[in-house]
Amino acid sequence: MRDPRQVAVVGVTGYSGFELARILLRHPAIQSSVYYLRETHGAQCLGQLFPHLRGSADAPLRPLSLDAITSSAAGTAFLATPHEASAELAPQLLAAGLRVVDLSGAFRFRSADTFTSWYQLPAPDAATLSQAAYGIPELYAEQIKSAPLVANPGCYATSVILALRPLAAFLWIAPGSSVVCDCKSGASGAGKELRRDLQFVELDENFKAYNLFSHRHTPEILEHTGIPESQLTFSTHLLPLARGILSTIYVTLDQPRTADSIEALYRSFYAGRRMIRLWRAGSLPELQHVAHTNFCDIGFALDPSGRRLILVSCLDNLGKGAAGQAVQNFNHMLGLEEHTALQ
Ligand SMILES: NC(=O)c1ccc[n+]([C@@H]2O[C@H](COP(=O)([O-])OP(=O)(O)OC[C@H]3O[C@@H](n4cnc5c(N)ncnc54)[C@H](OP(=O)(O)O)[C@@H]3O)[C@@H](O)[C@H]2O)c1
Repeated sequence: MRDPRQVAVVGVTGYSGFELARILLRHPAIQSSVYYLRETHGAQCLGQLFPHLRGSADAPLRPLSLDAITSSAAGTAFLATPHEASAELAPQLLAAGLRVVDLSGAFRFRSADTFTSWYQLPAPDAATLSQAAYGIPELYAEQIKSAPLVANPGCYATSVILALRPLAAFLWIAPGSSVVCDCKSGASGAGKELRRDLQFVELDENFKAYNLFSHRHTPEILEHTGIPESQLTFSTHLLPLARGILSTIYVTLDQPRTADSIEALYRSFYAGRRMIRLWRAGSLPELQHVAHTNFCDIGFALDPSGRRLILVSCLDNLGKGAAGQAVQNFNHMLGLEEHTALQ
């Protein structure tokens, strides 16, 4: 008999997997969490591998094997793994009756073709894709509650979609106008693999754009804002910081609006959604306000014409952009308060 409160985690040695472990270890509804590693380095429990968790983490480590997970009583699996690994593991875990929260991009798209053309990787299993809900709970809570598989969104995509969705839903964006999403991320967004461009000497005191017109989060933004590709410009930059995403988004409104009406639109759209913190007109969120949290903070400024709007959306790429949102999704899957174990 599977118990959804017994969880299996793959990828704890990665940046988002470690963040996930820190949250799961303080989650009051979790009965047990077991961490499956490709290489345990002789460690028996998390605290032995991560000195930061000593005293709070005797959660067991196990060598990664599908059989070990499926023969346990775990009812939920978290995959904080690369796209290819998730694409392979998720269908087998689902077939064994687990529910899966996948942090990779493998199951984020309605069509497998979107994944293959943007990721240049083999198509994910179509039957698995059809079981996936897109994991932004502020938008898709109903689907997430019952989905066998939740595809946790990309970090940049989360910050942009949450900022634009109220305007897009109420058709407040001028038809045919350009929407520019100018986004910056800390270096943990790229994961822990060694890369020359992510070394300290390359990053420190530097700031640069990358993957222009080719960033993999583009199709998520298109699908979940409904903004046509010809109108959307999405640029990504690397900040000399460990964590955080700040998106500055330039929009032309359909007609002159007041700051009060914009704020009211966002407040009613996100009413009761405590992970979205809205800022008063003209006061803007900063990365330091969201670091190590699961909040997405959204602020804006409006020019005197009432038509040129600049939104600023901030989150922690490992929090609301990855592990925090994964737990928020898990909370919905179990019918818990969505902010359980999150802050
Ligand atoms: N970093 C972010 O801000 C962020 C945000 C949103 C989503 N994501 C997504 O979350 C996933 C993890 O990202 P990350 O940045 O945490 O990556 P990461 O730091 O590179 O860690 C990857 C993890 O996956 C494990 N792994 C690698 N290949 C594997 C395989 N074939 N089978 C099983 N485990 C494998 C690694 O274990 P080893 O120690 O054995 O290598 C490591 O624990 C990715 O799909 C990424 O796109 C990341």
